[in-house]
Amino acid sequence: MCGIVAYVGHREACPVVIKGLKRLEYRGYDSAGVALMNGHGLKVYKKKGKVVALERELEGKETHSTIGMGHTRWATHGEPNDVNAHPHYSFHRKLAIIHNGIIENYAAIKQALLKKGHTFTSETDTEVLGQFIEDIWENNGGTLEDAVRLALQEVVGAYAIVVMSETDSTQLIAARKGSPLVIGVGEENEFFLASDATPIVEYTKDVIYLNDYEIAVIKEGDLKIVNLDNTTTTPYVHKIEMELAAIEKGGYDHFMLKEIFEQPRSIADSMRGRVQADAGILQLGGLRDYMDKLARSERIVIIGCGTSWHAGLVAEYIFEELARIPVEVEYASEFRYRNPIIKEGDIVIAISQSGETADTLAAIELAKSKGATIFGVCNVVGSSIARATDAGAYTHAGPEIGVASTKAFTAQVTVLTIMALEAAQRKGTISESLFRQLLVELESIPAKVEMVLQAADKIKEIAYIFTYARNFIYLGRGLNFPVALEGALKLKEISYIHAEGYPAAEMKHGPIALIDEDMPVVVIATKDSSYEKVVSNIQEVKARKGRVIAITTEGDTDLPGMVDFTIEIPKVHSMLMPLISAIPLQLLAYYIAVMRGRNVDQPRNLAKSVTVE
Ligand code: M6R
Repeated sequence: MCGIVAYVGHREACPVVIKGLKRLEYRGYDSAGVALMNGHGLKVYKKKGKVVALERELEGKETHSTIGMGHTRWATHGEPNDVNAHPHYSFHRKLAIIHNGIIENYAAIKQALLKKGHTFTSETDTEVLGQFIEDIWENNGGTLEDAVRLALQEVVGAYAIVVMSETDSTQLIAARKGSPLVIGVGEENEFFLASDATPIVEYTKDVIYLNDYEIAVIKEGDLKIVNLDNTTTTPYVHKIEMELAAIEKGGYDHFMLKEIFEQPRSIADSMRGRVQADAGILQLGGLRDYMDKLARSERIVIIGCGTSWHAGLVAEYIFEELARIPVEVEYASEFRYRNPIIKEGDIVIAISQSGETADTLAAIELAKSKGATIFGVCNVVGSSIARATDAGAYTHAGPEIGVASTKAFTAQVTVLTIMALEAAQRKGTISESLFRQLLVELESIPAKVEMVLQAADKIKEIAYIFTYARNFIYLGRGLNFPVALEGALKLKEISYIHAEGYPAAEMKHGPIALIDEDMPVVVIATKDSSYEKVVSNIQEVKARKGRVIAITTEGDTDLPGMVDFTIEIPKVHSMLMPLISAIPLQLLAYYIAVMRGRNVDQPRNLAKSVTVE
């Protein structure tokens, strides 16, 4: 959701903050704002829209300041406009605050402040928190740090906040609960604060991940971290490996396209050091001590949201087929509000690219409280979910900036496949020959993805023909069913075309009523055990004049004469097919969205990291 960035040190803060906001814009892009301490005291500048609109607003203003903080907003309380944009001044303008998260009891706090004569300019929960902190600061006689701590003791909800005051141009106070915050430790006693490491990486590789209930006080070049009960904690400085190039477009028109084309490398990275086909070795270091437990488990529950949930559905097929362990895949948002049955010996696998998804985090906490062992499959190193799980495996896909998940999906599926294969081997439910064959085929996946990417121009031509379609149906069977769901999700989120994914055989139970000459149907019809059945489904569509785009296995001579368009992909074992069949669907969605003039990397209403319910 919202992006936070702040700086204090020897540099000009404004350019650091603005550049950081641009890097974080994928987290929210409804409005942007900065607070600086220039010759006129504590000044806030903010504007509806993207960071470029804020830059225009700042033109000609006095921005000299060596302390500053900024925010990109994904609106929760109040519409996206200049007034609701962050930072927010407190009532007497002694401080300004930026916030990511939701203060659930803001209405009660606001009522109490209204009774004391406060007035509010915005509709946000954030302004309420800022006024609350100032009120305590003014009336309790302590420091600003004390006031922040006392206020947060009363707050229910999730937050990452940064507070700047007019009385101290060396001080930033930050705190987190449920929303991420990273501290960058720079040179000459300078400090950076951000929602993730992307705005920090070009200045320093030394970072501290703030934990829930911790408050960071940066003052006169020193950093102190205390808990909400005022006990001091010793921060651990991590070295991040992220390179600047990984968070830049590198010549591509969009991050999404770059990330689609990165997949040969990202899939290889997610296997690196884990798969050795020639030696018949497979290992996930992060799960070494838990592998026996996984192999012995009587049930696996997989939780995730969106694309991560789709990766979980793929894993369900693979775990059940190869390791013969029953799997249930749940939306984290549903799981957390049920009273799920977790038995001893159950394993819960939480999948999340960002590692910050609020629903997935809450589902993990619930499963933990019921005694489950939790594994994480996350992309972002040091993220909240990675730290909340008992063990896990990073996907190593590299930073994913495009809001639509692409390389994160294939990396998740790769890691989950390795996990299932290792469990199957330990359990003895897979033959040595199949095990070895799958390892060899896994290693061949990056080269095969490369081959699919070479069909980009053909996919672009198909996209051109369907640019103005109003609806799409995606069909697939077996492991290709979750891929159909993922293809439909990609199309709807970036092109705003209505699209639905179904298991191919389900079409006749309802969706077939939608088929006519205006309905494009994307069918994943690769050569596997259900191929003949899928061909029958295609004929049912054609009989009703639907227009079929079929994803076919190379060398298939039957389908080209039967359907309107074919996109060939290389042959691969059916267990690994989603790693290949997802790619043309990502490209199709991408090109259609570009041709419709959509903002592919920052589609409307969405944000990359969903840290609110
Ligand atoms: O970071 P996560 O994997 O936990 O995010 C889950 C979903 O919000 C995410 O996959 C979303 O559906 C993407 N926009 C899909 O492209």
